[in-house]
Amino acid sequence: MKEITKIGIIGAGLMGHGIAQIFASHGYSINIFDSVGETLAAVPGKIRSNFKVFLELGLVSETDVEECLKKITLSDNLEALSEGAHVIIEAVSENLDLKRKIFSELEQYVPQDAILCSNTSAISITEISEGLKHKARFLGTHFWNPPHIIPCVEIVKGKYTSDTVFETIFELMKNVNKEPVRVLKDIPGFLGNRLQHAMWREAISMVEKGVAEAEDIDKVVKYGFGLRCPFIGPLETADLAGIDLDYAVHEYLFPYLENSSEPSPLLKEKIGAGMLGVKTGQGFHAWTPEKVEKIINQRDLILLKIKSEINQAINDK
Ligand SMILES: NC(=O)c1ccc[n+]([C@@H]2O[C@H](COP(=O)([O-])OP(=O)(O)OC[C@H]3O[C@@H](n4cnc5c(N)ncnc54)[C@H](O)[C@@H]3O)[C@@H](O)[C@H]2O)c1
Repeated sequence: MKEITKIGIIGAGLMGHGIAQIFASHGYSINIFDSVGETLAAVPGKIRSNFKVFLELGLVSETDVEECLKKITLSDNLEALSEGAHVIIEAVSENLDLKRKIFSELEQYVPQDAILCSNTSAISITEISEGLKHKARFLGTHFWNPPHIIPCVEIVKGKYTSDTVFETIFELMKNVNKEPVRVLKDIPGFLGNRLQHAMWREAISMVEKGVAEAEDIDKVVKYGFGLRCPFIGPLETADLAGIDLDYAVHEYLFPYLENSSEPSPLLKEKIGAGMLGVKTGQGFHAWTPEKVEKIINQRDLILLKIKSEINQAINDK
């Protein structure tokens, strides 16, 4: 396998531009393409804006920002994007047909040994690769939003993905300071979204049943068990509590948990009322553009501080 130095990114939206930033910051040459010209042209500005919080915390210098931007080329089409690429990461809209179409077009242009990755949140990796000529080089790389800050990337093995490709991409993520995890079976939602949406299902159900206000449900996570989540995972917590206690709690509690296999009717009701969340100013909470900007800025600042505190605490031990 050739050394990976050149990466193509398809889709320059919320995830694509952040993924470009990760690799460009680590010296990789990036070609990025988006079918919407304005979105593509906005990439350098969006990356500059992402860097503000890093500059504020002294994690990068102005020179680092310029060096990163110099590594990024905006490509006009898939053929230009593919030239000499060792790895391609797709981050276009979450639509199976669209993703399939893009990868089958890509196969015409990319070098024979290029590795193809999809950032899909939930679509089966095997299904996306089904029509491809060379399926063994295809896999999932599920980044989390904001990708330039959240360390975890789920590396998803499809039915046809070769072990060499899987491990090469795992190592690539380590080289850019990510925390890759191996998803050995291609199951819907992979690891993180299954865990996350299981919790949301319960949270939404409790609002629906009038058990508590949305604000208090968010609080029980933010100021309760969520506070230990950046350092201790659920299975570590289960071990700390004791497997016998876990068993006893589950035996009593599970019959009462939400187990619907349909989305909550409350979500349907909110959609019907135009309450889509930040997009329309009202969801479970009320939002203004200022409030949204503030929470995103604070989120990024706090995430970076937590990351640096954890690293410090582990290194001091
Ligand atoms: N938003 C998240 O929190 C998140 C997290 C992890 C994974 N994902 C996944 O990442 C992917 C992208 O999500 P996003 O949130 O960045 O969406 P987005 O809508 O912000 O960006 C998608 C981009 O794809 C572009 N696009 C659409 N068709 C295209 C085509 N044919 N060629 C090139 N570009 C095209 C669009 O113009 C848009 O800029 C999705 O599969 C999504 O499920 C999203």
